Amino acid sequence: MNIIIDIEKPNRMNVYKIAAFLVLICFCKSETSSAQHQVADKRQHLLIDTGWRFALGHPFDVKKDFNNGTSYFSYLAKTGYGDGAAESGFDDRAWRKINLPHDWAVEQPFSEKASFSHGFKAVGRNFPDASVGWYRKSVFIPAGDLGRKISIAFDGVFRNSVVWVNGHYLGTEPSGYDSFHYDITDYLNYGGENVIAVRADVTMEEGWFYEGAGIYRHVWLNKMDRLHVAPNGTFMTSHVTDGKATITAKAIVKNDALHPESFSIHQRIVDSKGKVVASGVMENLQLTTSEEKEFALDITLDHPTLWDLENPYLYTMVTTITRNEKVADEYKTTFGVRTIRFDADKGFFLNGKRIEIKGSNNHQDHAGVGVALPDELQYFRIAKLKEMGSNAYRCSHNPPTPELLDACDRLGMLVIDENRLMGITDQHLNYVKRLIMRDRNHPSIISWSVGNEEWQIEGNIVGARIAQTMQAFAKTVDTTRAITAAISGGVGSGISTTIDLLGYNYIVNKNTDEHHKKYPAQFSWGTEEGSTVASRGLYIDNRAKNELAAYDVRQSENFLSLEDGWKYYAARSYLAGMFIWTGFDYRGEPTPFGWPSVLSYFGMLDLCGFPKDNVWYLKSWWTDQPTLHLLPHWNWQGREGQPVEVRVYSNCDEVELFLNKKGLGKKSMEKNGHLSWMVNYVPGTLTAVGYKNGQKTLTDVVKTTREPAKINITQEQIPLEKRNLAILTVDVRDVLGSRVPTAVNEVSFEVSGPAKIIGVGNGNPTSLEADRFIDQIDVIKIDNFKEKVISALSDLTELSSDTKNWDQAFKDDRSKEFGTKVKALIYRGDFTLNDWTDQTKITFFYKSLGKEQSIYINGKKIAANLMASKTGDTFILDRSVIKAGKNTIAILATPLLKVNSWDVVNADPGAIQVVKPADTWKRKLFSGLAQVIIQPTGAAGAITLKASSPGLKPFIFKIKL
Ligand code: GAL
Repeated sequence: MNIIIDIEKPNRMNVYKIAAFLVLICFCKSETSSAQHQVADKRQHLLIDTGWRFALGHPFDVKKDFNNGTSYFSYLAKTGYGDGAAESGFDDRAWRKINLPHDWAVEQPFSEKASFSHGFKAVGRNFPDASVGWYRKSVFIPAGDLGRKISIAFDGVFRNSVVWVNGHYLGTEPSGYDSFHYDITDYLNYGGENVIAVRADVTMEEGWFYEGAGIYRHVWLNKMDRLHVAPNGTFMTSHVTDGKATITAKAIVKNDALHPESFSIHQRIVDSKGKVVASGVMENLQLTTSEEKEFALDITLDHPTLWDLENPYLYTMVTTITRNEKVADEYKTTFGVRTIRFDADKGFFLNGKRIEIKGSNNHQDHAGVGVALPDELQYFRIAKLKEMGSNAYRCSHNPPTPELLDACDRLGMLVIDENRLMGITDQHLNYVKRLIMRDRNHPSIISWSVGNEEWQIEGNIVGARIAQTMQAFAKTVDTTRAITAAISGGVGSGISTTIDLLGYNYIVNKNTDEHHKKYPAQFSWGTEEGSTVASRGLYIDNRAKNELAAYDVRQSENFLSLEDGWKYYAARSYLAGMFIWTGFDYRGEPTPFGWPSVLSYFGMLDLCGFPKDNVWYLKSWWTDQPTLHLLPHWNWQGREGQPVEVRVYSNCDEVELFLNKKGLGKKSMEKNGHLSWMVNYVPGTLTAVGYKNGQKTLTDVVKTTREPAKINITQEQIPLEKRNLAILTVDVRDVLGSRVPTAVNEVSFEVSGPAKIIGVGNGNPTSLEADRFIDQIDVIKIDNFKEKVISALSDLTELSSDTKNWDQAFKDDRSKEFGTKVKALIYRGDFTLNDWTDQTKITFFYKSLGKEQSIYINGKKIAANLMASKTGDTFILDRSVIKAGKNTIAILATPLLKVNSWDVVNADPGAIQVVKPADTWKRKLFSGLAQVIIQPTGAAGAITLKASSPGLKPFIFKIKL
């Protein structure tokens, strides 16, 4: 398709033809002289997260979906025929500018009609206007890239994404979790701009938990030599003996050149200081055209530093492919040297040492940002889990983003990497393969999970077969990790009879001892356990208000409490340990409630990462750090004289409790237990004193506070050297400086300096406040577009006449013949503006309708004798020109004409963009806390956050990066 705007210059189809011809010439040249050409070309892995345009489309209203897929010949009919918003020339100037990662679901309001699973965010089938999202971006590809292999890689898009480059359909990816990439080498415009268009559709859900919407992970451009390491083509495994490791370095090399290639592979092991500590080479290797082959090399590494939980030491394997002694490709693989093994009687071993798995399940969801987590947040979250003593993370129930795995590698956290859906067709098995190939070099991963709670099959023969097939298949890609599957029922039948490493989800109605006796060679662990429901900082169940006390109690007879769950696992060495459901709260599944609860209550930490009291239970028994924690808070005004349960989580031997210095008794702590006192409430100070070996070692104090008086802000630690994110905790203090744990004040935030707020939260499961405050952009189309022939461009007689009997605009074909008859036309249409404020910005993005044109809005001249422009013209509309309600627009133009009969003349005058600036960022405190996430732009300058709230002393905080 060729949309004519400026016919004085060669039309675009001709340009394409010329370009294609040039590509062919250059291509042949570069193929024949590839050796010289390639030397300069190092592999590039370029992040292309910035400068995208975004707009909501529509699942079935094609007009609202920018007419994609509507042409006589569309993109499934002819290569390069991406139409509507998929077409490279599509006018996206009125779309919102965004950077990735982006989750449009988290930006939507809440609605009772929305999905329980997706946290009642107004997206999905009931909200077609917010269920399709379009992304577009232009990238410049230098002419010098011609001859290289270029691909675009998506870490993950939720979901059912379709991608085009320069109007060429690249493919559809149904999964919202798997990474995918497309080879775009042959579609590119070298030495020019290239347009990427992505359509994501969240009409259908994949999971039963919040999943977000859009390009919520990174996007990359990969450029390399035609002779290169295949995507995810390396695999480092190690065999460790005394003081030595044999590293088997495998590399799949692909020859995409149009001739055979001879080459060598150098493998160099680089330590964390950048020193090459071992190496090996394979020479005289050959690949024919399009051939791909795996080459394996054993390298001895003396005195390796092993990767473990305390010292997660990483090496880098630098794989270099040389041709004629010149570097063709260099590929880096981060890996760790460690041994892992499961034992059916003794559990899990890392580097020969038994490690009790103290794990948590987590979804990829955080306060404020939804699933679009900046990398820094991954590190923050893993560090929070480590702080509570956790050493393992289950990616429930889908492949994670690679940056999460990097964080686990670097911080020392074991991982179960989980496949989404069980099945054995090529499609299902291919997902397993892609997951393992992508992630197998991460030392943190100790097991591949093929699935979770597949109720239809887990207890029957179909499940037994499917698990067996998936397990056997997974082992063809990686033999070094055990394959697991999590089951909720059917122990003794189905999946539990065929899986190597059995994952129990909730043991309350299961006899694991009996199963272990029957299947003594099977490894086992608790993939879900200790599922409690609690609102952080609340200590009274108030079911009418969807509030649950944060004492560890069993939520129903189908679940154990955290303490009982842990005691069960801690007592059985054949069980490798357990994964709590869940580490962090997440959106969706607000069990046992529904609307207006929008977050789950399961987390040990809330959606912001603020700890609930259970965290101290775990700290007590999952770490060696002396721990003593008192709960609840001691602000029970109005409950004087009434009994309050006071609990202590501690690993001290004994704990003594005092209220206003009066002793309430000393109690001995049971291993993996807790202590509890019923105390009649009197305001004042509650003190717990912990004893170890008869010595006073720790004290914890909870005081009745006064009213909130001032705001306070602290900055959270992110364990990353280079970070571009600030996570701030907001609380309020009383006049004496004590934190008020019951404060619910609403706090407003204003950032100054080169940064922006990207999300706010407070962990309150019933909060329907906005997570993000963003500009509201309306794109208003021009309606009732009609035309009339006029004598000349200067003829203004029809500017305000009645258009009732005029023709529909562009009724006649803009043929050469039309041009001989018609010298000029007037086009008239209207657009409706609703109310605006002084801050509203109204812009007309005009697309040329004529070779020359003049534009009038409500009879007032906007532009005169404007020559056709390929990029279009932009007019900021002044308040004196526009009015609330219906506005008229008139465009007087000399017609654009076709050159070829198949050309399409632009008939779209463009659109009016109305931008209402975002409201002030704000959030209420919940149980005394709120979180603000700030992302610097990277420019130099101090960044401060001002927090204010009526009646409280404001706080100005200077951010440290
Ligand atoms: C499990 C399931 C989890 C979550 C949990 C809530 O059955 O595997 O994904 O839904 O229940 O209790």
